[in-house]
Amino acid sequence: MNKKISVIGAGNVGASVAQYLAEANLADVMLVDILEGIPQGKSLDLSQAGPIRGYNCMLTGSNDPKDMKGSDIVVITAGLARKPGMTREDLLKMNADIVGTSADNIKKHAPKAFIIVVTNPLDIMTYHAFKRSGFPSNRVCGQAGVLDSTRFRTFVAMELGVAMCDVQSMVLGGHGDTMVPLPRYTTVGGIPIAELMDADKITAISARTRDGGAEIVKLLKSGSAYYAPGAASVEMVRAIMLDEKRLIPCSAMLNGEYGMKDLYIGVPVILGANGVEKIIELKLQKKELDALQKSGETYKGFLKEIGY
Ligand code: LAC
Repeated sequence: MNKKISVIGAGNVGASVAQYLAEANLADVMLVDILEGIPQGKSLDLSQAGPIRGYNCMLTGSNDPKDMKGSDIVVITAGLARKPGMTREDLLKMNADIVGTSADNIKKHAPKAFIIVVTNPLDIMTYHAFKRSGFPSNRVCGQAGVLDSTRFRTFVAMELGVAMCDVQSMVLGGHGDTMVPLPRYTTVGGIPIAELMDADKITAISARTRDGGAEIVKLLKSGSAYYAPGAASVEMVRAIMLDEKRLIPCSAMLNGEYGMKDLYIGVPVILGANGVEKIIELKLQKKELDALQKSGETYKGFLKEIGY
């Protein structure tokens, strides 16, 4: 039997996830949404690209959460997107309902699945999905660090005129204004960026990364980014499906690491067949650790707003 990945939410992000998943030929894809016809229409359209794009997996759309049955991984993208001027946190209460219901459905219909949360505000929604599903924390994580790092990598590559794939980066903290880009852990072909560009440029690129989502919201005017968020989510799905043991940042449950507890926030992890197999504790400088802990504090506050 083919592996099965369900994607909750057939909006732009969900459809991009389904598209990149199909192109990766990893598993059959079930696209689930409450809007009648949308998941069916988008998955049929994506199926019809298969003969050209060379994929063979089955893409199906459904309005019934029961159809997630037997999923190996469920990606939660359902939720409202930001409008210009809105912060990710403005979405808090509206999306908490949607993610809570999604987690209930996963628990009921796909109790063995891994959950990857993409809905904003990301770190809070991931914690919420963890609590509501009751799954162990290695099976619930959030996609944000891969997206934030890929933005950092892109900006560095554009600035230096080098191949994007040669740039590696690490962006920690919450997926929001308190994000912590780590230039010290950003390299081009193994060379620290401090040797390749001046400090002002690095500061500017860090700021642009932190505002990377908002920059796109402002340009699009309605809706937020979806190509890079979709690609970043599939990177995480692939790591779990293929047991790749990728060392990447993602929103993970902390249990004392980095001096924080009972909180989901972006940290480096090893992602493999057991989900979040390990949290890597970097030897951060004081100002880096302070920024990460400040980010954590902010999110603790938001968690209270939804009753934790
Ligand atoms: C972004 C939104 C999707 O960063 O969080 O683009």
